[in-house]
Amino acid sequence: LVSATTKTPQSVSTMATEEDNVGNIKRQLAKIFDVSLRTTVPDETDVEPLVAACAGKFGDYQCNNAMGLWSKIKGKGTQFRGPPSVGQAIMKNLPPSEIIESSSVAGPGFVNVVISKNWIAKSIQNMLIDGIETWSPRLPFKRAVVDFSSPNIAKEMHVGHLRSTIIGDTLARMLEFSNVDVLRRNHVGDWGTQFGMLIEFLFEKFPNWEEVTETAIGDLQTFYKASKQRFDSDPVFKEKAQQAVVLLQGGEPKYRKAWAQICEISRSEFNRVYERLGVQLEEKGESFYNPYIPNVIKELTDKGLVEESQGARVIFIDGINIPLIVVKSDGGFNYASTDLAAIWYRLNEEKAEWIIYVTDVGQQQHFDMVFRACKRAGWLPLEDNKYPKTTHVGFGLVLGEDGKRFRTRNTEVVRLVDLLDEAKNRSKAALIEREKAAEWTEAELEQIAEAVGYGAVKYADLKNNRLTNYTFNFDQMLNDKGNTAVYLLYAHARICSIIRKSGKNIEELKKTGTIVLEHEDERVLGLHLLQFAEVVEEACTNLLPNVLCEYLYNLSEIFTKKFYSNCQVVGSAQETSRLLLCEATGTVMRKCFHLLGIVPVYKI
Ligand code: ARG
Repeated sequence: LVSATTKTPQSVSTMATEEDNVGNIKRQLAKIFDVSLRTTVPDETDVEPLVAACAGKFGDYQCNNAMGLWSKIKGKGTQFRGPPSVGQAIMKNLPPSEIIESSSVAGPGFVNVVISKNWIAKSIQNMLIDGIETWSPRLPFKRAVVDFSSPNIAKEMHVGHLRSTIIGDTLARMLEFSNVDVLRRNHVGDWGTQFGMLIEFLFEKFPNWEEVTETAIGDLQTFYKASKQRFDSDPVFKEKAQQAVVLLQGGEPKYRKAWAQICEISRSEFNRVYERLGVQLEEKGESFYNPYIPNVIKELTDKGLVEESQGARVIFIDGINIPLIVVKSDGGFNYASTDLAAIWYRLNEEKAEWIIYVTDVGQQQHFDMVFRACKRAGWLPLEDNKYPKTTHVGFGLVLGEDGKRFRTRNTEVVRLVDLLDEAKNRSKAALIEREKAAEWTEAELEQIAEAVGYGAVKYADLKNNRLTNYTFNFDQMLNDKGNTAVYLLYAHARICSIIRKSGKNIEELKKTGTIVLEHEDERVLGLHLLQFAEVVEEACTNLLPNVLCEYLYNLSEIFTKKFYSNCQVVGSAQETSRLLLCEATGTVMRKCFHLLGIVPVYKI
C-alpha cells in the first residue's frame, strides 16, 4: 500500500560540505525535495527529484515528480486521486528550509517554489567573502584527458584546428575550475606515410640537408604540397618516398633527424598561435604512442576482436558497414591503431576517468568505432553514464560570407596567424575610433586590442551550439552592440568604473556591508548571479560552452537593462548593498571570461 505519512519531515542542513556545492540552488532544492518524496511515497525508493529552473509567474524553480509518481502508484490502492494531489502532498511534506520562501502547486501537479531573497543575498555575500571557487561544480571524477587542437605537422593548421583549440581550452578550463585534474593533450599528427615523401623531397631540394637552417624550409606547407604532387605523378619518386618511410620507421638516423627537425619547425609555428590565444597544451603526438601499438593490437587479437579482411586486419562493429582497420595490408599501423593505443595509455598509465576528444563532426564515426572497440575489449563499461568514459565533442564548419568553407582573400586555407593579426588590427582601429579621449600608452592599446580582438574571435565561436556551422564575420564579432565579446567586455569595464568612481573601498564593504534585495530587479539580478553555479555545472557535464555564453550575455543584460536602469547605485540609500551587487556581477563576469579564455579589460 502506498500512502502519505504524517511524520514531520526533518529539516535539511544547508551547511557547506566538501561534496556539496552551497551556491547551487538546484542541488540544494533536490536535497529538500528528496526528503519530501521519501515522506510522500516511502515505498518508491528509486525516485530522483526532478528540479528545474522555471522563471514562470508561479515561482523560480519547479519540481516535476508528481506525474511520473502518479503513473507508478495508481491502481495500487493509493489514497491519491491524481497528479495534482500527489503534488499537493509533495508540497506539504517539504521540510522547513531557509531557501524556500513560498511554494504552490500548479497544473498537473508541478510544485513551484519561490526562492528566499534573504537566502540569495546571503549566498552572494558568502561568495564575495569566500571566493567564487565555492560555487564551482562538484563532478563525480577526478581526472580527465582533453584531447584538443591536434594539428598535423607540415600540413596547415586551419580554422577547424582553431575551433578545436578554442572549444577544447574552454572545456579544460571549466573542468579545472571544477577541481578536476585535466591533462591537456595535443595529439599532433606527427607520424605517417606523408613524412616519407616530404623528407625525400627536402633531401632532393637541399642536398646538404645537415646545414640547412630552419628559415630556409620555413614554409613547410608549400613543400608538403609540392612533394605530394611529385608523389602522385612520378613513379620513381613514389618508390623512393615509400623507401624513406621504411627507413624513417626503422630509425635510420639521417631520416629521424630530418623528421625531428620538420616537427620542430611546425611546433614553433603552432606555439605562436597558442601563445597568442593563451592556451596551454602538452604535446603527446601520434608518434608517442607507437611503442604501445603492437601490444594493444595483440591484446585485441587475443580477445578475438581482430579479423582478417582483404589483407588487412580489422575490427567489425555492429551496425556499421565498414570495418575499423587496425593493421593495414602492408603491415603498417594507422590513425585508428594509434587512437586505440592512446586510449589504452590514457586509461592505464594516466588513469583518466573521462577522455574527451574535440574534433570536427566529420570524425564522429571514427571515434564511435574506436570507442565501441574499446567497450568490446572490456576497457570501458558498456553504459555511457559510468566511468571511465570517452566522449567525442564534435563541432561544425566555419563558413565564409559566401556560405562556403571559410577562406581569406582567395587563399586556399586560412592561416591562423593572419586571422589573429587581422582580428587585432581591426579591434585596434575600432578602439582608436571609439575612444578618442582615452589616454592609453601604446603598450596599453596593444594589450587591449589583443584582449578584445582575440576575445571576439573566441566568443563568436563559443556562443554557438558547437554542432552548428557558423559564419565568420569580423564586423559582426567586433560590434560593440549585441551578443559579442566587445559588448560584454565594455559592460564589465563599466561595472568596474561604477565601483571605482564611488570612491568606496570595496574590500572593506565586503566585510562590513550587507546585501539587501528590495527592488524586484535586484532580486532578479541576485537570482541570476546565484545560478552561475548550476549553469557552469551544466556546461561542464554536457560539454557545451554556449550554455555559459548565454548565461553571461543574460547576466550583462539583466545588470544593464534592469538593475542599473532602475536602481540608482552611487548616492542612494542602498548604495552599499548595490555596490556589493555590482562587485558580485563583476566577479561572476570575470569568472565567465576566464572560463571562456577571454582576458577582461578594466578600462575601456
Ligand atoms: N590530427 C587530427 C586532425 O587534424 C586530429 C586528432 C584528434 N585526436 C585524436 N586522438 N585522434 O584531424
